[in-house]
Amino acid sequence: MKKTAVTAAPLNDLIAERWSPRVFDASYALSDKDLLSILEAGRWAPSANNVQPWRFSVARRGDGLFDSVVGATSGFNQAWLPSASALILVSIPELTADGQPYKIAMLDAGLAIQNMLIQTTSLGLYSHVVAGMDRDAMSQVVGLPENLHPIVLVAVGKHGDVEAIAGTPLHERETAERTRLALDEIVLVGKP
Ligand SMILES: Cc1cc2nc3c(=O)[nH]c(=O)nc-3n(C[C@H](O)[C@H](O)[C@H](O)COP(=O)(O)O)c2cc1C
Repeated sequence: MKKTAVTAAPLNDLIAERWSPRVFDASYALSDKDLLSILEAGRWAPSANNVQPWRFSVARRGDGLFDSVVGATSGFNQAWLPSASALILVSIPELTADGQPYKIAMLDAGLAIQNMLIQTTSLGLYSHVVAGMDRDAMSQVVGLPENLHPIVLVAVGKHGDVEAIAGTPLHERETAERTRLALDEIVLVGKP
């Protein structure tokens, strides 16, 4: 199912075709090779001073961790995440090595996350970023060291059968049009 971005100029296919499903194929197992390539994409993101503050914790459907990670997410996320193949928790330190608030770490991690999303698309798979979670519970479940704080999960998998859920609210969300603010609203100065 395609939900190609409607754009004012041609875009790279990997950007135009990426979207965030909530219906994954619950029988699909992510291969080690594909998981490695997604993690490598995160690893090779740029970061301020090349500090690479992101840390990844991976749970795969069927392992001992996956259900607990889903359980630490909030609200409706718990309903659709179980069919994903893998959940990659991205965490960052709150403080720099010299004890200052590490404000740029969030941006660095965002770049690593987007690299992983694009790589996932290139593999013919889908990803969905999830911020809705109980962060204390998630830290405990994954056993994060004291100085690391979870930011988001990246759910990865194969898109599932949308028609199998026809008539449900989830079906409505899954098939809804993707929208964005117009360029006129976000380019304050200098739009061609
Ligand atoms: C930082 C971040 C947090 C998000 N958290 C959630 C979430 O908790 N639950 C959810 O269903 N989607 C979540 N999303 C997905 C967004 O709703 C989705 O990316 C947005 O609606 C744009 O849709 P698209 O990715 O299909 O273009 C999150 C996305 C981002 C970037």
